[in-house]
Amino acid sequence: MTARILDGKAIAAEFRNECAVRVQRLKEEKGLVPGIAVVIVGDDPASKVYVRNKAQACEAIGMHSEVHPLPAETTQAHLLAFIHALNAAPAIHGILVQLPLPKHIDGQALIEAIDPAKDVDGFHQANLGGLITGHPAFYPCTPWGVMKLLEHTGIPIEGKSAVVIGRSNIVGKPMGLMLVHAGATTTICHRKTQDLAFHTRQADILVAAVGKAGLVTGDMLKPGAVVVDVGINRLANGKLAGDVDFETASQVASWITPVPGGVGPMTIAMLLGNTVKSAERAAG
Ligand code: GUN
Repeated sequence: MTARILDGKAIAAEFRNECAVRVQRLKEEKGLVPGIAVVIVGDDPASKVYVRNKAQACEAIGMHSEVHPLPAETTQAHLLAFIHALNAAPAIHGILVQLPLPKHIDGQALIEAIDPAKDVDGFHQANLGGLITGHPAFYPCTPWGVMKLLEHTGIPIEGKSAVVIGRSNIVGKPMGLMLVHAGATTTICHRKTQDLAFHTRQADILVAAVGKAGLVTGDMLKPGAVVVDVGINRLANGKLAGDVDFETASQVASWITPVPGGVGPMTIAMLLGNTVKSAERAAG
Protein backbone atom coordinates (compact mmCIF):
# COMPACT_ATOMS: atom_id res chain seq x y z
CA MET A 1 0.00 0.00 0.00
CA THR A 2 1.16 3.53 -0.69
CA ALA A 3 -0.48 6.01 1.64
CA ARG A 4 -2.44 9.07 0.55
CA ILE A 5 -0.98 12.32 1.85
CA LEU A 6 -2.96 14.18 4.50
CA ASP A 7 -2.06 17.60 3.21
CA GLY A 8 -2.14 19.84 6.27
CA LYS A 9 -0.91 22.80 4.27
CA ALA A 10 -3.90 22.71 1.91
CA ILE A 11 -6.48 21.86 4.58
CA ALA A 12 -5.15 24.65 6.82
CA ALA A 13 -5.35 27.13 3.92
CA GLU A 14 -9.01 26.23 3.42
CA PHE A 15 -9.72 26.71 7.14
CA ARG A 16 -7.88 30.07 7.16
CA ASN A 17 -10.06 31.24 4.26
CA GLU A 18 -13.15 30.40 6.29
CA CYS A 19 -11.68 32.38 9.20
CA ALA A 20 -11.02 35.35 6.90
CA VAL A 21 -14.70 35.39 5.91
CA ARG A 22 -15.73 35.39 9.58
CA VAL A 23 -13.27 38.24 10.34
CA GLN A 24 -14.75 40.29 7.49
CA ARG A 25 -18.27 39.64 8.76
CA LEU A 26 -17.33 40.77 12.28
CA LYS A 27 -15.88 43.98 10.86
CA GLU A 28 -18.89 44.74 8.69
CA GLU A 29 -21.65 43.71 11.04
CA LYS A 30 -20.19 44.48 14.48
CA GLY A 31 -17.38 46.95 13.74
CA LEU A 32 -15.05 44.61 15.61
CA VAL A 33 -11.54 43.46 14.66
CA PRO A 34 -10.44 40.21 16.34
CA GLY A 35 -7.16 40.77 18.20
CA ILE A 36 -4.49 38.45 19.58
CA ALA A 37 -1.57 39.26 21.88
CA VAL A 38 1.45 36.98 21.89
CA VAL A 39 3.93 37.21 24.77
CA ILE A 40 7.41 35.81 24.16
CA VAL A 41 10.03 35.83 26.90
CA GLY A 42 13.74 35.49 26.07
CA ASP A 43 15.23 34.65 22.70
CA ASP A 44 14.68 31.00 21.92
CA PRO A 45 15.26 30.97 18.13
CA ALA A 46 12.58 28.34 17.36
CA SER A 47 10.01 30.24 19.45
CA LYS A 48 10.80 33.44 17.56
CA VAL A 49 10.08 31.70 14.25
CA TYR A 50 6.81 30.20 15.56
CA VAL A 51 5.66 33.57 16.90
CA ARG A 52 6.49 35.36 13.65
CA ASN A 53 4.53 32.73 11.69
CA LYS A 54 1.54 33.08 14.03
CA ALA A 55 1.54 36.88 13.75
CA GLN A 56 1.80 36.77 9.95
CA ALA A 57 -1.06 34.27 9.71
CA CYS A 58 -3.26 36.54 11.87
CA GLU A 59 -2.51 39.64 9.84
CA ALA A 60 -3.08 37.77 6.56
CA ILE A 61 -6.75 37.23 7.48
CA GLY A 62 -7.30 40.81 8.65
CA MET A 63 -6.91 40.26 12.39
CA HIS A 64 -5.08 42.57 14.77
CA SER A 65 -2.01 40.92 16.22
CA GLU A 66 0.53 42.26 18.67
CA VAL A 67 3.73 40.54 19.70
CA HIS A 68 5.28 41.46 23.04
CA PRO A 69 8.91 40.34 23.22
CA LEU A 70 10.18 40.55 26.79
CA PRO A 71 13.74 40.02 28.01
CA ALA A 72 14.69 36.62 29.49
CA GLU A 73 15.22 38.22 32.92
CA THR A 74 11.64 39.56 33.16
CA THR A 75 10.21 38.73 36.58
CA GLN A 76 7.19 36.58 37.31
CA ALA A 77 5.46 39.57 38.93
CA HIS A 78 5.97 41.71 35.84
CA LEU A 79 4.63 38.95 33.58
CA LEU A 80 1.57 38.47 35.77
CA ALA A 81 0.84 42.20 35.67
CA PHE A 82 1.32 42.14 31.90
CA ILE A 83 -1.21 39.34 31.50
CA HIS A 84 -3.71 41.06 33.78
CA ALA A 85 -3.49 44.15 31.56
CA LEU A 86 -4.13 42.03 28.45
CA ASN A 87 -7.09 40.36 30.19
CA ALA A 88 -8.60 43.83 30.62
CA ALA A 89 -7.82 45.07 27.09
CA PRO A 90 -11.05 45.14 25.01
CA ALA A 91 -9.17 44.98 21.67
CA ILE A 92 -7.57 41.65 22.67
CA HIS A 93 -9.65 38.48 22.30
CA GLY A 94 -6.83 35.96 22.54
CA ILE A 95 -3.72 35.80 24.73
CA LEU A 96 -0.89 33.39 24.08
CA VAL A 97 2.25 32.95 26.15
CA GLN A 98 4.80 31.22 23.96
CA LEU A 99 6.41 28.16 25.51
CA PRO A 100 9.02 27.21 26.62
CA LEU A 101 9.66 29.93 29.19
CA PRO A 102 12.92 30.70 31.02
CA LYS A 103 13.58 28.41 34.02
CA HIS A 104 12.85 31.05 36.69
CA ILE A 105 9.30 31.54 35.41
CA ASP A 106 6.39 29.47 36.71
CA GLY A 107 4.69 28.90 33.37
CA GLN A 108 1.62 27.18 34.79
CA ALA A 109 0.95 30.18 37.07
CA LEU A 110 1.09 32.47 34.02
CA ILE A 111 -1.31 30.30 32.08
CA GLU A 112 -3.70 30.26 35.04
CA ALA A 113 -3.55 34.07 35.11
CA ILE A 114 -4.96 34.28 31.57
CA ASP A 115 -8.72 34.87 31.45
CA PRO A 116 -10.03 31.42 30.32
CA ALA A 117 -12.30 33.25 27.87
CA LYS A 118 -9.14 34.59 26.14
CA ASP A 119 -7.07 31.38 26.50
CA VAL A 120 -6.90 30.62 22.77
CA ASP A 121 -4.16 28.02 23.36
CA GLY A 122 -6.66 26.06 25.48
CA PHE A 123 -4.00 25.47 28.15
CA HIS A 124 -5.82 26.97 31.18
CA GLN A 125 -7.00 24.37 33.71
CA ALA A 126 -10.58 25.54 33.21
CA ASN A 127 -10.30 24.66 29.52
CA LEU A 128 -8.33 21.45 29.99
CA GLY A 129 -10.91 20.44 32.61
CA GLY A 130 -13.64 21.34 30.13
CA LEU A 131 -12.18 18.73 27.80
CA ILE A 132 -13.25 16.03 30.24
CA THR A 133 -16.89 17.04 29.97
CA GLY A 134 -16.51 17.93 26.29
CA HIS A 135 -17.23 21.66 26.65
CA PRO A 136 -14.04 23.72 26.92
CA ALA A 137 -14.13 27.38 25.86
CA PHE A 138 -11.26 26.47 23.50
CA TYR A 139 -9.66 23.23 22.35
CA PRO A 140 -5.84 23.11 22.38
CA CYS A 141 -4.75 23.94 18.83
CA THR A 142 -2.53 21.00 17.91
CA PRO A 143 -4.84 18.12 18.89
CA TRP A 144 -7.81 20.03 17.51
CA GLY A 145 -5.91 20.40 14.22
CA VAL A 146 -5.27 16.64 14.25
CA MET A 147 -9.02 16.00 14.66
CA LYS A 148 -9.68 18.23 11.63
CA LEU A 149 -7.12 16.25 9.62
CA LEU A 150 -8.75 12.96 10.63
CA GLU A 151 -12.16 14.38 9.65
CA HIS A 152 -10.72 15.18 6.24
CA THR A 153 -9.99 11.49 5.50
CA GLY A 154 -13.73 10.81 5.70
CA ILE A 155 -12.97 7.71 7.78
CA PRO A 156 -15.31 7.50 10.79
CA ILE A 157 -13.47 7.57 14.13
CA GLU A 158 -16.25 5.95 16.13
CA GLY A 159 -15.44 2.38 17.11
CA LYS A 160 -11.87 2.59 15.83
CA SER A 161 -8.77 1.75 17.79
CA ALA A 162 -6.59 4.84 18.35
CA VAL A 163 -3.10 5.02 19.79
CA VAL A 164 -1.45 8.27 20.87
CA ILE A 165 2.28 8.24 21.57
CA GLY A 166 3.15 11.01 24.03
CA ARG A 167 1.43 12.22 27.19
CA SER A 168 2.17 15.95 27.23
CA ASN A 169 -0.41 18.36 28.61
CA ILE A 170 -0.54 20.28 25.34
CA VAL A 171 -0.78 17.40 22.85
CA GLY A 172 -0.87 13.78 24.08
CA LYS A 173 -3.36 13.98 26.93
CA PRO A 174 -5.89 16.32 25.25
CA MET A 175 -5.50 14.30 22.03
CA GLY A 176 -6.45 11.13 23.89
CA LEU A 177 -9.55 12.80 25.34
CA MET A 178 -10.68 14.17 21.99
CA LEU A 179 -10.36 10.73 20.40
CA VAL A 180 -12.33 9.20 23.27
CA HIS A 181 -15.08 11.80 22.79
CA ALA A 182 -15.11 10.94 19.08
CA GLY A 183 -15.79 7.31 19.99
CA ALA A 184 -12.36 5.72 19.50
CA THR A 185 -11.02 3.12 21.91
CA THR A 186 -7.89 5.00 22.86
CA THR A 187 -4.51 4.06 24.29
CA ILE A 188 -1.92 6.62 25.35
CA CYS A 189 1.65 5.29 25.13
CA HIS A 190 4.70 7.05 26.56
CA ARG A 191 8.32 6.52 27.48
CA LYS A 192 7.45 3.96 30.17
CA THR A 193 5.39 1.84 27.75
CA GLN A 194 6.86 -1.67 27.72
CA ASP A 195 6.21 -2.81 24.16
CA LEU A 196 5.36 0.17 21.98
CA ALA A 197 5.08 -1.84 18.75
CA PHE A 198 2.53 -4.19 20.35
CA HIS A 199 0.24 -1.20 20.89
CA THR A 200 0.92 0.63 17.64
CA ARG A 201 0.13 -2.52 15.62
CA GLN A 202 -3.45 -2.44 16.97
CA ALA A 203 -4.00 1.16 15.87
CA ASP A 204 -6.43 2.13 13.13
CA ILE A 205 -5.43 5.70 13.99
CA LEU A 206 -1.95 6.50 15.21
CA VAL A 207 -0.87 9.91 16.48
CA ALA A 208 2.83 10.32 17.29
CA ALA A 209 3.77 13.29 19.49
CA VAL A 210 7.03 12.64 21.32
CA GLY A 211 9.79 14.52 19.54
CA LYS A 212 11.93 11.50 18.61
CA ALA A 213 12.88 11.35 14.94
CA GLY A 214 11.93 8.12 13.19
CA LEU A 215 10.54 6.43 16.33
CA VAL A 216 7.67 4.79 14.44
CA THR A 217 8.63 2.58 11.50
CA GLY A 218 6.42 0.85 8.94
CA ASP A 219 6.73 -2.57 10.61
CA MET A 220 5.09 -1.10 13.74
CA LEU A 221 1.88 -0.20 11.88
CA LYS A 222 -1.37 -1.99 11.15
CA PRO A 223 -1.86 -2.09 7.39
CA GLY A 224 -4.22 0.69 6.35
CA ALA A 225 -3.71 2.77 9.51
CA VAL A 226 -4.19 6.54 9.43
CA VAL A 227 -0.90 8.01 10.68
CA VAL A 228 -0.61 11.55 12.02
CA ASP A 229 2.86 12.80 12.85
CA VAL A 230 2.99 15.71 15.31
CA GLY A 231 6.78 15.52 15.79
CA ILE A 232 9.06 18.18 14.36
CA ASN A 233 12.68 17.21 14.87
CA ARG A 234 15.74 18.97 13.49
CA LEU A 235 18.24 16.39 12.18
CA ALA A 236 22.03 16.77 12.25
CA ASN A 237 21.95 17.58 8.52
CA GLY A 238 19.59 20.51 9.23
CA LYS A 239 16.50 18.85 7.73
CA LEU A 240 13.19 18.50 9.56
CA ALA A 241 11.82 15.05 10.34
CA GLY A 242 8.79 13.75 12.19
CA ASP A 243 8.47 11.02 14.80
CA VAL A 244 7.41 8.65 12.03
CA ASP A 245 9.78 7.19 9.47
CA PHE A 246 7.87 8.44 6.44
CA GLU A 247 9.51 6.17 3.89
CA THR A 248 8.60 2.84 5.52
CA ALA A 249 5.35 4.04 7.14
CA SER A 250 3.90 5.35 3.88
CA GLN A 251 4.20 1.82 2.44
CA VAL A 252 1.83 0.47 5.11
CA ALA A 253 -0.52 3.34 6.08
CA SER A 254 -3.65 4.39 4.18
CA TRP A 255 -3.16 8.08 5.02
CA ILE A 256 -0.11 9.86 6.41
CA THR A 257 0.86 13.43 7.24
CA PRO A 258 4.14 14.83 5.89
CA VAL A 259 6.63 16.75 8.06
CA PRO A 260 6.76 19.63 7.43
CA GLY A 261 3.37 20.49 5.91
CA GLY A 262 1.16 18.21 8.01
CA VAL A 263 0.13 19.10 11.54
CA GLY A 264 2.21 22.32 11.84
CA PRO A 265 0.05 24.50 9.55
CA MET A 266 -3.09 23.11 11.22
CA THR A 267 -1.93 24.28 14.67
CA ILE A 268 -1.69 27.88 13.46
CA ALA A 269 -5.00 27.66 11.61
CA MET A 270 -6.75 26.43 14.78
CA LEU A 271 -5.24 29.32 16.72
CA LEU A 272 -6.86 31.70 14.25
CA GLY A 273 -10.12 29.79 14.58
CA ASN A 274 -10.03 30.06 18.38
CA THR A 275 -9.31 33.79 18.29
CA VAL A 276 -12.11 34.48 15.80
CA LYS A 277 -14.44 32.37 17.96
CA SER A 278 -13.48 34.44 21.01
CA ALA A 279 -14.16 37.69 19.13
CA GLU A 280 -17.52 36.36 17.91
CA ARG A 281 -18.47 35.61 21.53
CA ALA A 282 -17.36 39.11 22.62
CA ALA A 283 -19.49 40.62 19.84
CA GLY A 284 -22.52 38.75 21.21
N1 GUN B 1 5.28 26.16 22.04
C1 GUN B 1 5.20 25.13 21.17
N2 GUN B 1 3.92 24.96 20.77
C2 GUN B 1 3.19 25.89 21.40
C3 GUN B 1 1.81 26.23 21.38
O1 GUN B 1 0.97 25.62 20.71
N3 GUN B 1 1.45 27.27 22.15
C4 GUN B 1 2.34 27.97 22.92
N4 GUN B 1 1.89 28.95 23.65
N5 GUN B 1 3.62 27.68 22.95
C5 GUN B 1 4.04 26.65 22.20
